[in-house]
Amino acid sequence: MDFVDKNIEKYVEALSDKESPLLKEINEYTINHVHQPRMLSGHLQGRILSFISKIKHPKNILEIGTYTGYSALCLAEGLQDDGKLVTIDKDKSLYEKVNNYFNRSNYKNKIEQKIGEAIKIIPEIELKFDLVFIDADKKNYKNYFDQVIHKLNKGGIIIVDNVLWKGKVTDISKNQNDKIAVYINDFNEYIKKNKKVSKLILPVRDGLTLIIKDEN
Ligand SMILES: C[S@@+](CC[C@H](N)C(=O)[O-])C[C@H]1O[C@@H](n2cnc3c(N)ncnc32)[C@H](O)[C@@H]1O
Repeated sequence: MDFVDKNIEKYVEALSDKESPLLKEINEYTINHVHQPRMLSGHLQGRILSFISKIKHPKNILEIGTYTGYSALCLAEGLQDDGKLVTIDKDKSLYEKVNNYFNRSNYKNKIEQKIGEAIKIIPEIELKFDLVFIDADKKNYKNYFDQVIHKLNKGGIIIVDNVLWKGKVTDISKNQNDKIAVYINDFNEYIKKNKKVSKLILPVRDGLTLIIKDEN
């Protein structure tokens, strides 16, 4: 299910900032050569990630789910001069390719790639973050939120992808056979109950939740 009409999306992309040549290359390479290219954030969502990052101007960013590096490079656009982005993925097969993209970008000295299970790596990171992007296995969304909320500065932002899961969460009683829809719906309910954060679901692409940490 597409939440934004295709013509509207094309219009919005045409009249918003373009993807950089490197992002365009990653987008095209992913579509043509990588498994499950739908996982890539893409032009519109990438510009949204970049915009939020530029507004927040974070010192440190954490990304859970690197894939081909597209969203990491979008998020890095808002980093402070001495800022850092840590991105985690368990998929070793993409490491070299993505490392090469990062090295060709303006952020080559600011991005650290970590390979392995995010749930094990996150507790080992000693940095505090101003911006976090959760975009890996949906089963662990709650766990990732619980791990990163303690590493997020007050006023920090968490962005979570795929929170509408093709629209299936809107009728979860009929979609109990889709485990991911159930995990995501549980996660959305969990965030709704949390009084220490502000939350807003944007019906963009597959649904993006914006969370602000209001209280420690
Ligand atoms: C949706 S893709 C990320 C897309 C990327 N953020 C973007 O917007 O272009 C999800 C990624 O999470 C990774 N992943 C899935 N489960 C993981 C886990 N348990 N630990 C670390 N990475 C994981 C997958 O290998 C995949 O590359």
